[in-house]
Amino acid sequence: MRLSVIGCGYLGAVHAAAMASLGHEVIGIDVDPAKIAALADGHAPFFEPGLDELLRTQLDRGALRFSTKIADAVGATVHFVAVGTPQSADGHAADLKFVDAAIEALLPILAPGDLVVGKSTVPVGTAARLAARIDEHGSGASLAWNPEFLREGYAVQDTVAPDRFVYGVQRGDSGIEDGPVDLLDQVYATPLSTGTPRIVTDFATAELVKVAANAFLATKISFINAMAEIAETVGADVTELADAIGHDARIGRRFLNAGVGFGGGCLPKDIRAFAARAEELGRGDSVAFLRQVDEINLRRRQRVVDRALQAFDGSVVGRRITVLGVTFKPESDDVRDSPALDVAVQLKGLGAEVIATDPHGIEPARLRHPQLAYVASTTDALAGAELVVLVTEWREYRDLDPSAAAQLVASPSIIDGRNVLDPVAWRASGWRFWGMGRP
Ligand code: UGA
Repeated sequence: MRLSVIGCGYLGAVHAAAMASLGHEVIGIDVDPAKIAALADGHAPFFEPGLDELLRTQLDRGALRFSTKIADAVGATVHFVAVGTPQSADGHAADLKFVDAAIEALLPILAPGDLVVGKSTVPVGTAARLAARIDEHGSGASLAWNPEFLREGYAVQDTVAPDRFVYGVQRGDSGIEDGPVDLLDQVYATPLSTGTPRIVTDFATAELVKVAANAFLATKISFINAMAEIAETVGADVTELADAIGHDARIGRRFLNAGVGFGGGCLPKDIRAFAARAEELGRGDSVAFLRQVDEINLRRRQRVVDRALQAFDGSVVGRRITVLGVTFKPESDDVRDSPALDVAVQLKGLGAEVIATDPHGIEPARLRHPQLAYVASTTDALAGAELVVLVTEWREYRDLDPSAAAQLVASPSIIDGRNVLDPVAWRASGWRFWGMGRP
């Protein structure tokens, strides 16, 4: 099939390359010439394992092209809209200006039988509004909403082999529209043939599925972090608690890792936008708990900073603190709403001499926070540290040898902000060791 993908950020670039790998002919469109030039050259403008290789393979095969001109999307039958929906500058709601602009740009080129497929995360009610806009234009095209559940770091795999597909389509008096479902089934024929579940529903449900999934994941993380707060008060161990409750299949162990909390471009903004939308709908009470989920999450960053202050009896002024990790999670160079970077910035603001390091996040972090000192090598970063703070659990930090690390630092003290190190081994090597919600 001939497909277009409007918006080549994280979601769109991965989607375009992944759809080409499923055998389609794909054109990716973005208004940013630098992004398009990089993609057309086989380089993603962000770090995502396996994506550059996939881009190059599909570009070389001629299955994938990139352009800044929407006119190049003419001839595609299915147009995916994968633009960003950031938090608005003046509140918690999602800013839909990029989605609206993408639809307006598409309208003049749509042909009868074309399908516009929204992939962006939007407030419930958006798809119905956009479908009405497309109908009013009279091109004979229709709309479906097909939310995306990819995780950064696993984006390619999550796109070509997702846990499930959700198709949101127009529900009229005669039931669900068949045309959009058939077209999406053709797009996803390969993963569907392996038995991937697909849920066909209405627009509102599809939009809600996406935000409900992220709200649930955020709640799970804040739940275990709330338990960490209690554990800290009574001297219990939240990691053992998580293992124990996680054995109950109804609860499950995944996403129960207590630590410095969640960040990134999705979970934080999505729970805020969901709460803002619920308020607009007069149902703010229904998701009022999401405000607490957000607050618990932000308190964990403060907890790490407080621990650092405690380590120096109340003041970090002039203290050399090495921060291991600046990205919001490993296998990503994304520093949006990163708890790790936030901790580094707060410590710097309190007067510490902060040395931050990260395998992939230094340049994006430097752009946002040039006031921090960045060092590429872990060994160099550790040299002379009076306190080490592990806040992103990259493999190379998890695998650090405590005896070797002790030789590098000025004073062997560490805060494990992700609960990934073995406290027994670190203490045995002479380290003062603090975890999150652990004795
Ligand atoms: C998240 C969802 O997991 C995806 O399903 C969704 O498609 C995506 O948002 C999106 O809406 O686009 P992502 O932002 O890549 O994906 O990150 P996650 O893997 O969910 O991690 C989010 C944060 O939670 C990270 O900062 C991570 O360190 C933290 N986390 C995760 C914990 O603190 N504890 C855990 O147990 C798990």
